[in-house]
Amino acid sequence: MSLLPPVVGQSLQELDTPQLMLEQDAFEANLQQMQEQCLRAGVALRPHAKAHKTPAIAQRQIALGAVGICVQKVSEAEPFLEAGIRNILVANQLAGPRKAAHLRDLLTAFPDAEIGVCIDHDTQLAQLHQAVMGLGNRPRVLVELDVGQGRCGATDLNQAVHLAQRVIDAGLVLGGLQAYHGKAQHFRDPLLRREAINSVCKQVAQVRQALEQKFIFVPSITGAGTGTYALEAASGLYTEVQPGSYALMDMDYAAIGPEPEMRFRHALTLASTVMSTRPGQRVLDTGLKSMSAESGLPGLHGLNGWEVVGISDEHCVIRAQSREAEIDQPLPLGAQVQLIPSHCDPTVNLHNHLVVHQHGRISAVWPIAARGLSQ
Ligand SMILES: Cc1ncc(COP(=O)(O)O)c(C=O)c1O
Repeated sequence: MSLLPPVVGQSLQELDTPQLMLEQDAFEANLQQMQEQCLRAGVALRPHAKAHKTPAIAQRQIALGAVGICVQKVSEAEPFLEAGIRNILVANQLAGPRKAAHLRDLLTAFPDAEIGVCIDHDTQLAQLHQAVMGLGNRPRVLVELDVGQGRCGATDLNQAVHLAQRVIDAGLVLGGLQAYHGKAQHFRDPLLRREAINSVCKQVAQVRQALEQKFIFVPSITGAGTGTYALEAASGLYTEVQPGSYALMDMDYAAIGPEPEMRFRHALTLASTVMSTRPGQRVLDTGLKSMSAESGLPGLHGLNGWEVVGISDEHCVIRAQSREAEIDQPLPLGAQVQLIPSHCDPTVNLHNHLVVHQHGRISAVWPIAARGLSQ
């Protein structure tokens, strides 16, 4: 028998599992909340699409007021361009001339697209320059600063100023600065997050001042994720923020609270089926091949008194915390259970589509068109 594809109008109980699900009301509430907070803070919202890889989500974010999106790889930009999205920042460096050539091809195929890209080395700039020389539509080039992540980015002020000057000397458009502190997003303690972003802002302000002293205008300062966006937004320094996970909301981000601006709803779940039972324990048909677990075990949506105790390739084991819990929620063979992924990005990347649902029925099926595009 062939696989049963999800169908609009179908009840959730009829779904074959595992199935990646998006609860429409929670998703809409998350998008509205983030957009309103950015509006109130006076910063642009450029959501990171690496979290969802789904053009229909990006279109909804833009319809609500986002200026465009971020992607992490050039190939990832392609399905979004094909879906009509025209303002994209590749919030990353390009790994070699082949990627620069791919970017050139996209700029040529989509002449009305505004695409930005980050650099932290002269060689990247030279490769980019060589690839886009002579094009009518050129990319904006942003200098990335390492503001505490210890990953990519210029590590000191002189290097940042040098790179910005080189962009201008090469006849390319300086798009501004990217300053993203990834580790700080996940600090559990709000004070640590605040301290980290204060330090980020000091570094960014110094670079901006040094550039302005050389009469180099900085058109945008971009960065931030779901864990700290409110701090960068309130800094008076950042012109846009790049949160991604807020739209879906995983267990890892739910653990960092408790500020009201961090309260997003779990819109993303993985529908699973009880495939084996024994007293106090159930086994679900969902494992690492449908959900990542490098950020911890998944959570259980709307199921009190049970907890996830283990996950392997194709199984997830849950246990009742008490005899009463099992009586209240017996979970017989075939029962459907919604798991909340601990980390949304790598989980989404394991699926071909998102099943959107509202009031227990499927309302849409959205292709995860950028799935697997990591070149
Ligand atoms: C450059 C950049 N910006 C923004 C984000 C924010 O993403 P999220 O809100 O999903 O943590 C990330 C995530 O890794 C990133 O790498």
